[in-house]
This record gives sequence, structure tokens and C-alpha cells, in this order.
Amino acid sequence: MIGFKLFGNKKKEKLQSESRMQLRRADRFDSDGPNMQIKSSDNYLIDVSGYSWDSVVGMDDVKEELQEIVALLRPDKATRQAIEHWGIEHPKGMLMYGPPGCGKTFIAKCLASECNASFYLINGPAIMTKWIGESAKNMREIFKAARNNKPSIIFIDEIDAVSTSRDLVSSESMREVVTTLLTQLDGLDELSGVFTIGATNNPDLIDPALLRPGRLDKGVFVSLPSDDMRKELLVREFSNRPVDSNIDFDELANITMNYSAADIVAMADRAAKIAWRRNKYKPTGRITLDDIYKAHTKTGSSVSSDKLVGYQRWAAYAFS
Ligand SMILES: Nc1ncnc2c1ncn2[C@@H]1O[C@H](COP(=O)(O)OP(=O)(O)O)[C@@H](O)[C@H]1O
Ligand SMILES: [Mg+2]
Repeated sequence: MIGFKLFGNKKKEKLQSESRMQLRRADRFDSDGPNMQIKSSDNYLIDVSGYSWDSVVGMDDVKEELQEIVALLRPDKATRQAIEHWGIEHPKGMLMYGPPGCGKTFIAKCLASECNASFYLINGPAIMTKWIGESAKNMREIFKAARNNKPSIIFIDEIDAVSTSRDLVSSESMREVVTTLLTQLDGLDELSGVFTIGATNNPDLIDPALLRPGRLDKGVFVSLPSDDMRKELLVREFSNRPVDSNIDFDELANITMNYSAADIVAMADRAAKIAWRRNKYKPTGRITLDDIYKAHTKTGSSVSSDKLVGYQRWAAYAFS
């Protein structure tokens, strides 16, 4: 991995980010006056300035994988020289895969915010249902806007809905979307300042053509949180809430084995609601251990161990 400084001059970059968002908003219209139109690609430009890399708990291996992207999106002179010197082929895109609720979307938004990059969010199933007849055109427009607003990250959530193996896709227009996506990815230059991230909970449904070299050829597994990460997530979730002082967070981490980050967020929220109800909806009182246990019995893990093994098997085959 190339050695480079990850995130510098944070404050300055944040300010630049805000003014860039304003500029982008001002650039929303094709023309002034009565005929002004919102560019369709703008519907997919998401403000991620509220997200920060520091709020990502754990995931050190995933963070390390993502570091290269920062260099790719903002290549300074030294990085360009290093790329030339070493003949390094930078990835143009990646596939984040893993169980639902483990932070794929969250970490991508935090990354975009820290890189001060435009973040285009495309929802896979929506393309196939809402964009009927317009899908290929919209896809081209988003890639074009991303190149104009670089550095950019195009995030295609639930990409399996778009890129289900072409052999399995029946309609001509759906096949066209997959082909357009592949063409757009192939058309991106390594240093175009646009990076595409696909995210999926069902990687086995993906068209293998999408994972070929030069496309989303880097796989990043976003797995269930580790014991330490669950503890940190629990501490974070309860630190902003009034909670009894006798809470043993190691014990809570133990009883939430196989919970996703989203499950933990849901459990903390449920515990707060139970305490609220128990306190007759008054704005006073504390969340007790008993409230948390009650929330725990109602929440449960949404990911099975079998499913986790399935991801690992798929990765060994897909990225071998
Ligand atoms: N590493 C993390 N650090 C902090 N919060 C996280 C982390 N991963 C996930 N979360 C929390 O879990 C929620 C669900 O994550 P999300 O990105 O929607 O999952 P996915 O896209 O994998 O289904 C996020 O909104 C965030 O609150
Ligand atoms: Mg998601």
C-alpha cells in the first residue's frame, strides 16, 4: 500500500466542502427563468457533510482498504509520480459486501465526507422500478455529473438488483442498464477523480462481468462487528442518553454476539423507549440495566452464522 497522509487540514476542507455544496446547489439549474429545470443527476447528489470518519467505530481493516481511494481521488504530485514509477494500477471501483446493517452505506458516506467528494447515491432496486425506460440515460447522466463535480464517489446500493447476471435478466431494458453500467465503468480513467462503490448483501447474485479487472475488481468484506467494536458501539449509543452507572458494557457486548451495528442501534433505541414508557413519558429518569435486557430479548441478531460463512465462500471464488 502506498504511504500517504490520510486526512489533513480537516477544518479547511470542511469549509471548502460546505461552499462546494452551495455551489453545487446553485448549479442545479440548467438555465434561469421560467424554464429552469433541476438536472436529474442532482436528485442523486447527497449532502454528506454531517458524516465524519472519526465516527466510524472499529473496522480498521476496512479503513485501511479505503485509504488508497483517498489518494486516488485527490492525487497529489507525489502520488502521480509514485503511480508512474511503480506502474501501479489503481482500482476504479470496489464492491462492499456483507450482511445488512454492518455499515456499508455509513462508511461510504463518511469516506466521501472526509475526502470532500461529491457523493452520488443510486438505489439499485429503484433504478429497476422507478427509472423504467430512463435507466440507461439516468445512469449516463450521473456518471457525467460525477466527472464534472470531481472528486466524486458513485455509490450503488443494493447493486445486485441492477447487475443480476445478464443471463438471468429477461427484459431488454434491464440488460441495457447492466451494459450501460459496464460501459461507464470501462470509460472511467484511473485518475478521473470518480470512484464507484457497489454495495450488496447478496453478492452471489452479481453478474461476474462487473467484477472483472478494471471494474469493481476490489472486494471489501464489511462483516459483523467484533466484540470490541460492539462494546464501543454500545458505549457510544448510551453515552448520549441518561443511563444508570452500573451498566457493564463488557457483559452487554457478550450478550450481543452476532448483532449487526444496526441491531445495536435498534436495541439502544428500544431500551430508551422502554425507560420512557416506564417513567410515564416524563422527561426525567434513567435507563436501567433491566430496560436494556428487556430491549435485548426483543431485538435479536438479524444475521445467521450460516449466512456469514456463505459470504466468505463466495469471496474465495469471486476474487480468487
Ligand atoms: N463502524 C460503524 N461505526 C459506527 N456506526 C456504525 C458502524 N457501522 C454501522 N453503524 C451504524 O449502523 C447503521 C446501519 O449501517 P448501514 O451503513 O446502513 O449498513 P449497511 O449499509 O451495511 O446495510 C448506520 O446508520 C450507523 O448508525
Ligand atoms: Mg446500506
